[in-house]
Amino acid sequence: MKTLITNIKQLVQVGTSPRKWVAGKEMSVLPHMDNAYLLIEDERIAAFGKMEDLDYSKLEETDLLQEIDASGRLVLPSFCDSHTHLVYAGSREIEYIDKIRGLSYEEIAQRGGGILNSAERIRHASEEELYEDAYARIEEIASFGTGAVEIKSGYGLDTESELKMLRVIRRLKETTPLLIKATFLGAHAVPAEYKGRQTEYVNLIINEMIPAIAAEDLADYIDVFCDKGFFTVEDTDRILNAGMKYGMRAKIHANELDYSGGVQVGVKYNAISVDHLEYIGQEEIACLLDSDTMPTILPGAAFFLNMPYSPVRSMINAGLPIALASDYNPGSSPSGNMKFVMSLGCINYKMLPEEVINATTLNSAYAMGVEEKAGSIEVGKLANFYITKPISGIEYLPYAYGSNLIDRVFLQGKQL
Ligand code: NIG
Ligand code: FE
Repeated sequence: MKTLITNIKQLVQVGTSPRKWVAGKEMSVLPHMDNAYLLIEDERIAAFGKMEDLDYSKLEETDLLQEIDASGRLVLPSFCDSHTHLVYAGSREIEYIDKIRGLSYEEIAQRGGGILNSAERIRHASEEELYEDAYARIEEIASFGTGAVEIKSGYGLDTESELKMLRVIRRLKETTPLLIKATFLGAHAVPAEYKGRQTEYVNLIINEMIPAIAAEDLADYIDVFCDKGFFTVEDTDRILNAGMKYGMRAKIHANELDYSGGVQVGVKYNAISVDHLEYIGQEEIACLLDSDTMPTILPGAAFFLNMPYSPVRSMINAGLPIALASDYNPGSSPSGNMKFVMSLGCINYKMLPEEVINATTLNSAYAMGVEEKAGSIEVGKLANFYITKPISGIEYLPYAYGSNLIDRVFLQGKQL
């Protein structure tokens, strides 16, 4: 089965040799091709090039399934959303009102709201209900251009409920065309029944949850919310150490609420990414520069919670790579719209359009470990991409922040 897309005004984020990530000044370089074609064979990218080099006679010998004229339109690789919590029960708009009235994220959490509110609901939800709700969210983000997504547990907070969430994620892996990675986040909050006994809860994570999850091979990564009022560096160290023994690589919630030491402990364990990063100084930057860890910013959460913005320009100027993800979750970022995340990246973090595209494709693919299959238009990678409506150029995508500019979405070579 072949699909040929012709007359593409601009084919964006093309690559001919594998790139790990783009960092520093390179983040503003976005390789592209004008007046291009893209050939898809089954689920993969088979070829691309300039229209003038397209040899029709060769193609006519084969039975082309379809040809799409993309005159005036851009083609981009699908977004890789490397940080979400999109399996959850119910929503939390009541807390939204509390926030409008002036309560902080920590105050809401202390009143039994926040993560514990979601935990209460998830414990009462069936696997089937959770799956159906999450499936609908996946359908929505796919229509918004996302082709790969990382999903965390962390609203269960007891062994059975964490397993339930991770089984839902496994089912989503099996039944949707998106590339999905699963992360175990038992250390998201201390559940109510362990109030005042944090170390005992950490012991439960280490001695019971991690082995049970590993026995069913349910998690690719392990995450800890290492921050003020949540888990300490010492807790994080113990949990990552235990996860590593079962082959779960670290991926950390770090430095959202304070200079928590989360970045340093993440790098110590060779985390694939450290995420949030509102509180970043020279020490954290130096530590990241000397690592294989992707600094990941979650502009939707900072926007929704009115938090200070991560010093992204200083990080890029220092030579770091940056990934952007949605943090899609019911409490701090109830949206998985990556195009809007790009707009926030431009406006609130002073990132250039080229930089936000790199941060939501190539770099975020690395941050979730799918860089060999996704994140750019390269021969052999999965045919996960979207065709825009007719637009002037890449800048128009983050600029027109409220418009749906995505016309057709292809995942694994098939149009949705
Ligand atoms: O990434 N920071 C910690 N966890 C989530 C929030 C989850 C929630 O409030 O439900 C986040 O923002
Ligand atoms: Fe998160």
